[in-house]
Parts: sequence; structure tokens; C-alpha cells
Amino acid sequence: MRVIVTGASHGIGQGIARVLARNGMAVGLLARSTEKLDALATEIRAHGGTAFCAPCDLRDAVSTAGAITKLTQDLGGVDALINNAGLVIRKNAFDLSMDDWHAMVETNINGVFYATRAVLPAMRAQGSGHLINVSSISGKFPLPGGSAYAATKYAVTGFSQSLFQEVRDFGIKVSIVYPGSVDSASHRHDAEADHSWKVSPEEVGEACLGILRTGPGNCIHELEIRPLARPPKA
Ligand SMILES: NC(=O)c1ccc[n+]([C@@H]2O[C@H](COP(=O)([O-])OP(=O)(O)OC[C@H]3O[C@@H](n4cnc5c(N)ncnc54)[C@H](OP(=O)(O)O)[C@@H]3O)[C@@H](O)[C@H]2O)c1
Repeated sequence: MRVIVTGASHGIGQGIARVLARNGMAVGLLARSTEKLDALATEIRAHGGTAFCAPCDLRDAVSTAGAITKLTQDLGGVDALINNAGLVIRKNAFDLSMDDWHAMVETNINGVFYATRAVLPAMRAQGSGHLINVSSISGKFPLPGGSAYAATKYAVTGFSQSLFQEVRDFGIKVSIVYPGSVDSASHRHDAEADHSWKVSPEEVGEACLGILRTGPGNCIHELEIRPLARPPKA
């Protein structure tokens, strides 16, 4: 299977790419950080896997289409796209700047749409495909102190649920993953705290692997993954 993973330079996307590559899937890695993508591709190839990189800013529709086209050519086609890249700025509406708002909307909503639009023609032509969109439990439940982030993740949920109805008759699956607390650097809001209780990025990768391995006649449309442990008491 040939899978493009956005936001693969660190955090959850890196964990997803490692797990998929370890399980025989060819991965196309997309994010802005060229050096980190190259390092991950080198690591995957050193373990016998197949990986290609396309540095790109998902806020730019033209660059995104170019990067997806490059990765699709490198991979010899595309079977799945994992829209994982995202930006969290945890501020309440009083403190959030206009730039903060636009950065999250452009990354978390526009970026998902641009990448999705870029793979859909090939998936429709081949009569199969799989889109996995990484929302958040903040895309299901209110997030006081993070209203703008929650708005973008509710948008991912709404887009994905509706998109599923638009593309399922073309053989294209749409899945939404709702992570709870995952231990990535950008979500360590208190750097000094213990983060060992959280889900690891590779555990999210295992969940994506399971979603991708469903048979042709069914689709895991929504999946919530949370840590079993609770945060340590302050
Ligand atoms: N960690 C959690 O607890 C948690 C919980 C729920 C949902 N999520 C969601 O899971 C996803 C991954 O989160 P994470 O915690 O792994 O975050 P992260 O460690 O900050 O990683 C974010 C990834 O997105 C990429 N990215 C950001 N802006 C981009 C842009 N404009 N163009 C291209 N790539 C861009 C980053 O790469 P570059 O900086 O190299 O571009 C990076 O690879 C996000 O959608 C997040 O909302 C996370």
C-alpha cells in the first residue's frame, strides 16, 4: 500500500510513518522541515522500507498540489492519504491574535482540503482510496482555553463526515481519528510535567494501520484513541 502522511516531520505523523513503513507500506512524507523529513526517510530506508519526501507548506494550495503530485509519482500511485498535519495554539478568545486564528484555520482546515483535493482525482479514477483525517477529541467536545483550535477540529469532523457521503460510491473510504492526549512536543503545554501516561505517536500509528487494513467492503469511519491512564494529580 502507498500512503502519503502529512505532518510526518515529527510527533504523531512521524510515529504513523514509522509504523506503516515497518509494516511494509511505502510512505510519502510531507511537512515543511526538509531536514527532518530527509532524516526520517533515511531511517526508514535503512530498515529496508520505502520512503519519499516532499517538503511543502500546506497553507499554500499550489505547493500542496505539487507536493502530492510528486509523492504520487515517486510512489507509483497513491492508495491512502493521512491528513495529520496540524497546529495547536492554546489561547482563549480574549488572547488569541488574528494571526493565531489564521494560522490554525489555514493549516488545520485549508491544508486538509488542499491535500484531499489533490489526491481525489487519482482515487476516483482507480475506484479506490482511503483518506484518514486526524481530528481531535477537541473536534467532539468543548475545549475551554482553546476555542479556535476546537473550531478547526470540529471543521475537520464536519468535512470528513460529509466527504464520506460524497466519495463512498467511488470506492473511497474516509476515516476520522480522534486522538486524546498524545505525547508530542507541541502538546507538552507544561514541559516540566510527566507525560509518560499519554498515548505515544506510534500507538496512533498502530491505530491507523488497523484502519488501513480493513477489507474492501467496510470502513472504520471514526476512531477515538485515548490513554488508559489519567494525568497525574498536580
Ligand atoms: N498531540 C496530541 O495530544 C493531539 C491530540 C489530538 C489531536 N492531535 C492532532 O494530531 C496532529 C499531529 O499533532 P502532533 O501533536 O503530532 O503535532 P506536532 O508534533 O506539532 O506535529 C505537527 C506536524 O504538522 C506539520 N505541519 C504543521 N504546520 C504545517 C504546514 N503549514 N505545512 C506542512 N506541515 C505542517 C509539522 O511539520 P513542520 O513543522 O516540519 O511543517 C509537524 O510534522 C494534529 O492535527 C493535531 O491537531 C494531537
